[in-house]
Amino acid sequence: MLSWEDYKEDAASPGSANTGPAKRQAAPASASSLGSSLDLIGDMDDLDDDELEDEMDGGLIQVAENTPTLTTQVTPEPTVAAPVAVAAVSAPTPVAAVTQPETRERVTVDQKAMINCRADLNQLVPFKYEWAWQKYLDGCANHWMPQEVNMTADIALWKSDNGLTEDERVVIKRSLGFFSTADSLVANNLVLALYRLITNPECRQYILRQAFEEAIHTHAYQYCIESLGMDEGEIFNMYHEVPVVAKKASWALEYTTGISNPEFTTGTPETDRELLKNLIAYYCVLEGVFFYCGFTQILSMGRRNKMSGTSEQFQYILRDESMHVNFGIDVINQIKLENPHLWDADMQALARKMILEGTELEIEYAKDTMPRGILGMNANMMAEYLQFIANRRLAQIGLTEAFAGAKNPFPWMSEMMDLKKEKNFFETRVTEYQTGGALSWD
Ligand SMILES: [Fe+2]
Ligand SMILES: [Fe+2]
Repeated sequence: MLSWEDYKEDAASPGSANTGPAKRQAAPASASSLGSSLDLIGDMDDLDDDELEDEMDGGLIQVAENTPTLTTQVTPEPTVAAPVAVAAVSAPTPVAAVTQPETRERVTVDQKAMINCRADLNQLVPFKYEWAWQKYLDGCANHWMPQEVNMTADIALWKSDNGLTEDERVVIKRSLGFFSTADSLVANNLVLALYRLITNPECRQYILRQAFEEAIHTHAYQYCIESLGMDEGEIFNMYHEVPVVAKKASWALEYTTGISNPEFTTGTPETDRELLKNLIAYYCVLEGVFFYCGFTQILSMGRRNKMSGTSEQFQYILRDESMHVNFGIDVINQIKLENPHLWDADMQALARKMILEGTELEIEYAKDTMPRGILGMNANMMAEYLQFIANRRLAQIGLTEAFAGAKNPFPWMSEMMDLKKEKNFFETRVTEYQTGGALSWD
């Protein structure tokens, strides 16, 4: 077999009996001087288009005629290859899976739609859904990172023998166990399923932001787990090992399996409803119900000055999550508005069933993690809170409430989600801090 070293030697020996006359002498990798590159460009100028194409074809340059065995994979000099490649670039060719354009005309608002849209998805403006763009801006303005939170007090408390009760330790571990994988489920659903099927660029822009926020949340849980020196395997594998955690995860996974298939497309009432079911499962139930017991437990701990760093992380996450839920609900309602045929009696009954199943699973989780009263709350209070939340989710997508008279036993939770709050109760830092251009100094 011809080695690269042999090739260089042959190329450097004109008239070598071994190679015969070169059809086009390729610049060996070592010949990187500007002079040799310019010579080659000069040679290429003499070629017609077909010859140029042949020249560049697959990077294969025949070293010698009539000696096919001496064909060598040569990477053309970048300075030579670039101008040739650029000359071949033309206006984008419509590629259905990427842009879905039917025409090359400028996009108008009327052409835009939440699903099954045929307008060019690479053109962000003109906006049709200002609310989606505003949520993207709000999400960016609330950027935060887990390492900014001081975990020192948590580490001391977690390692002390009598700072926390056994029940409190269970709550902390279960919360980190559930959330450390739940946010990955959400992120995977966004990136592998939803992004492709939501055919609106401003919503996609928010989905990209949300996906990064989910990565930050997973990072935050990992940061807590590592800071506290927990058994990482025990926590991250909890969604396989602890039934009340596993049931929530597998309930959600069922709704992403079908639409994550790269072959899945929307466009029929049946497939459009599959997408709608996914949105309800992930935004109304997983993020909208499944997160609430754990959040309430950890934030309640923070209010009692326990695990204040972990609580602060959860507070930032909750603030992001409440925006995720609101975004998802706006998307669901917009799809209903644009496709009223999808929201028939069967679909409404199914949506209701899904939210009630999710509530039941979360109540089970509350009972399992709080067999006794803890932190000024108990499983019954949590059940009522979850029913209150479920009523809200039902109403938000236009369904009637299921739990008459359910009240919020934890009104302080709404305060936690309030983006206008000036300072958090741990008095550690301003939680409303803003980044970059969103900062205002007064
Ligand atoms: Fe999250
Ligand atoms: Fe989220």
